Amino acid sequence: MLIPTAEPLSTEFDINYVWDYASKEEGLRSLYEKSKEAHWNAKTDPDWDIEVDPEAENTPDQTIPWYGTSHWNKLSEGDIRKLRHCAQAWSLSQFMHGEQGALMVAAQLVNCVPDIDAKFYAAQQAADEARHVEAYELYLSRKLEKQYPCNPELRTLLDQILVAKEWDIKYLGMQILVEGLALAAFGMQNQLTREPLIKDITSRIMGDEARHVAFGVLSLRDAYTEMSESELRLREEFAVEACYLMRDRLTPKVIWEEFGLPVAEMEELSDKSEMMRQFRTMLFSKIVPNVKRLGLLNDRLREQFGKLGILGFENAEPSA
Ligand SMILES: [Fe+2]
Ligand SMILES: [Fe+2]
Repeated sequence: MLIPTAEPLSTEFDINYVWDYASKEEGLRSLYEKSKEAHWNAKTDPDWDIEVDPEAENTPDQTIPWYGTSHWNKLSEGDIRKLRHCAQAWSLSQFMHGEQGALMVAAQLVNCVPDIDAKFYAAQQAADEARHVEAYELYLSRKLEKQYPCNPELRTLLDQILVAKEWDIKYLGMQILVEGLALAAFGMQNQLTREPLIKDITSRIMGDEARHVAFGVLSLRDAYTEMSESELRLREEFAVEACYLMRDRLTPKVIWEEFGLPVAEMEELSDKSEMMRQFRTMLFSKIVPNVKRLGLLNDRLREQFGKLGILGFENAEPSA
């Protein structure tokens, strides 16, 4: 399949000049200061001399949801090695594409937020996200020598955030939902991996992402208190759809196809496995408490989150 090197997406949203340059938001300004101090260099800070065997059991095979099933047992040792390589390249590719989305949304926020402190911080975040794309690209090209295209569900989610007209929906989509999920996913990756280079890169990225979620929470703090019922409904629907897309973006259908595995059956196996159920719900552990903190978790959204099986995190520790 030929992948285009660039692809246009039409967007339309109002941008805001700010003529009062004095800082109004102490919290945002101090986040901006922290961010300046916390920059790292993707090219020189991680130890790129570490050798990586892409086919080694860098994360335990037991975490593959269909581990131990008849499909798994049919694989030869060589197939298993190849599968580990593909699975790792697939998930890091999705992280990289998500980081590109974050880079573009941060750049949009620089334009559209009506507040100088938020413009400053969003500019710092754009630099962070560029570094994250760079780090994943380096790891994929130098160490795994393999890369996958953006998963369709992730692409849909990124498109929805990028084309949103309302700046608060861009924040909600990227800073609260996608970044919250990324923080949980990176945390799990970090706990499970035995490969020191990706562990180091992920730890560095997580430090940055925690600030990005804090940026969203601080910026949206009072956004939802004065909103009309119809405006709130739009945000709730957006959040629910985004959560479904994030839950479903986790299935590596292309890999199953690559290995000649029956996609529909694999999907069902994954869906029903206890490992996947726990994994999927864990991904929402940061999102639900933050949505609650913003005052968006009303009875309607509670019911929807209940259907998704993620309401259990309502009283979990927020991430930022
Ligand atoms: Fe990032
Ligand atoms: Fe981020």
